[in-house]
Amino acid sequence: MRVCVIGTGYVGLVTGACLAHIGHHVICVDNNEEKVKLMKAGQSPIFEPGLSEIMAGAMQAGTLEFTTDIGGGVAHGEILFIAVGTPPLPTGESDTRYVEAVARSIGAHLDGGYKVIVNKSTVPIGSGDWVRMIVLDGIVERQKVLVGAGGGEVTTLESVPAFDVVSNPEFLREGCAVYDTFNPDRIVLGGSSSKAIAMMQELYAPIIERQYAEDKSLPPVPVLATDISSAEMIKYAANAFLATKISFINEVANICDRVGADVTQVAKGIGLDSRIGNKFLQAGIGWGGSCFPKDVSALIHTADDYGYDTHLLKAAVSVNQRQRLIAVEKLQQVLKILKGKTVGLLGLTFKPDTDDMRDAPALNLIEHLNRLGAKVKAYDPIVAQSGMRHGLTGVLVETDPERLADGCDALVLVTDWQQFRNLDYNKMASLMTNPVMIDGRNYLDREALQQAGFYYVGVGR
Ligand code: NAI
Repeated sequence: MRVCVIGTGYVGLVTGACLAHIGHHVICVDNNEEKVKLMKAGQSPIFEPGLSEIMAGAMQAGTLEFTTDIGGGVAHGEILFIAVGTPPLPTGESDTRYVEAVARSIGAHLDGGYKVIVNKSTVPIGSGDWVRMIVLDGIVERQKVLVGAGGGEVTTLESVPAFDVVSNPEFLREGCAVYDTFNPDRIVLGGSSSKAIAMMQELYAPIIERQYAEDKSLPPVPVLATDISSAEMIKYAANAFLATKISFINEVANICDRVGADVTQVAKGIGLDSRIGNKFLQAGIGWGGSCFPKDVSALIHTADDYGYDTHLLKAAVSVNQRQRLIAVEKLQQVLKILKGKTVGLLGLTFKPDTDDMRDAPALNLIEHLNRLGAKVKAYDPIVAQSGMRHGLTGVLVETDPERLADGCDALVLVTDWQQFRNLDYNKMASLMTNPVMIDGRNYLDREALQQAGFYYVGVGR
C-alpha cells in the first residue's frame, strides 16, 4: 500500500521504516531539514536498536523515501499517518499545535482519491473529530486561495475529497521499538468507517499474521476495533496504569527500606500472582521519559476539564516526584553534607538502549545535586558514543566509567544499561575517594560490589 508518515521521530521513523520493510511504499515527511538530509543519506537521527539496518534495506529496495515536502507525501499516500510530537504544556495539557499544523496541511493538499488519516500521535481524547474538523478547514482554506486566484470553483460539500480519521495509538517502547512494531501485544484501531478500518487491517496484515514476529507460531495479533475516543483513552489508560504500577512498587520499596524487607523479593513474591504479573515491578528512582510523565499529566488534565478530580493518578505522580530524589536522600544518609562532594552518575538516558533524554530522572538529580553544592559527573554509553550533549548543564560528561569513578565520593546507577553489570568495579572502587554505590535501579550484584570494596545501597533492600 502507499503510505505517508508525517513526523519522523521515535514513533514515525520506526513505523515508516517497518512498514517499508514489510513491502509497503512509504514516504516519510519531516519539516526538520537537517533530519531529512541525514535520513536521505541513510542515517538514523535517533538511536534505536535494529533501525538503521531496517532503514538501509528498505531504502535499497526503494520502498522508503524521505522528504520535507508534505504535499508530495499526501499525494502519494492512501494512508497518512500523523506521528508528530505532543509535548506537555506547563499546565500539564498536551500541546497539540504540531498535530494541528499537520492536519491543516493535509487538508490543504488533499486531492484525488479516498484517504485514511491516522492519528498515531498520542492525542487528547476527542482529537479524532477535532483533526477531522482541522482537515476540513485546510481544504476550505485551500479552495479559497484557488478561488481568489481565479483558479477553481467554490468548494461544495460534494467536492470535498473523501477521507476518514482513524485513531491508531502506538505502544512501542523506546529501546526495543523495532521489535515491538513486529511483535505487538495488540493493535488498536478506533474509528467508525468500516472502509478505513479494513484498509488499516490490510496495512498491518503481515504483522497481524506474525510474518515478521520472533515467534511465528503465535496466534495472530489481537486487533481491537473501537470508537475513536475509546482508542485514544486506551493509550492514556495503558500508560497511566504502568506508571501507577511503578509508583506502587516504589512506595512499597520505601516501606521496605524502613522495616528491613527486600523489595526485590517482595516484587518476586507478588509478581508470581498471575493477577499481578511480574513486569513493571522494579523499584528504583522513578519513571521518566517522553511518554509516562506527559501522558499521565494530560489524562489528569482531561479529567479535570470534565469535572473529575483524579486521586490515584495524582498520587502516582507525587510518589514519582519524590522517588526521583530518593538517590539524593540516600547520598545524604551516607555522605551527610553533599556540598563540595563529587557524585558520578552511571547513565543519563531515562532507560537503556535509547538516546532519549526527555524528562529523564537524571536531569532532576543533576539539578538537585548542584543546588546542594555537589559536583556532578556522568558517564552514559550512548552519550559517549554519539558525542551528544542534549544541552546538559551542571554535569561533566566523561568518556568512560573509570574516568567517571576517578575522584568521586559516590556513584549513582541511574540507567540500567546492560554493560554496567560488567564494569571493572575493583578498579573503579580504587579510583574513588569514597567507594559508595547508590544502585538506583537495584540492577547490580550487591555481593560483587561489596567484594569490590563498595558500600552498596539499593532502593528498598
Ligand atoms: P519526536 O519528537 O521524536 O518526533 C516528532 C517529529 O515530528 C520530529 O521529527 C519533528 O521534526 C516532526 N514534526 C513536527 N512538526 C512537524 C510538521 N509540521 N511537519 C512534519 N514534521 C513535523 O516524537 P515521538 O517521540 O516520535 O512521539 C510522537 C508521538 O507519538 C507523540 O504524540 C508521542 O506521545 C507518541 N508516542 C511516543 C512514543 C515514544 O516512545 N517516543 C511511544 C508511543 C507514542
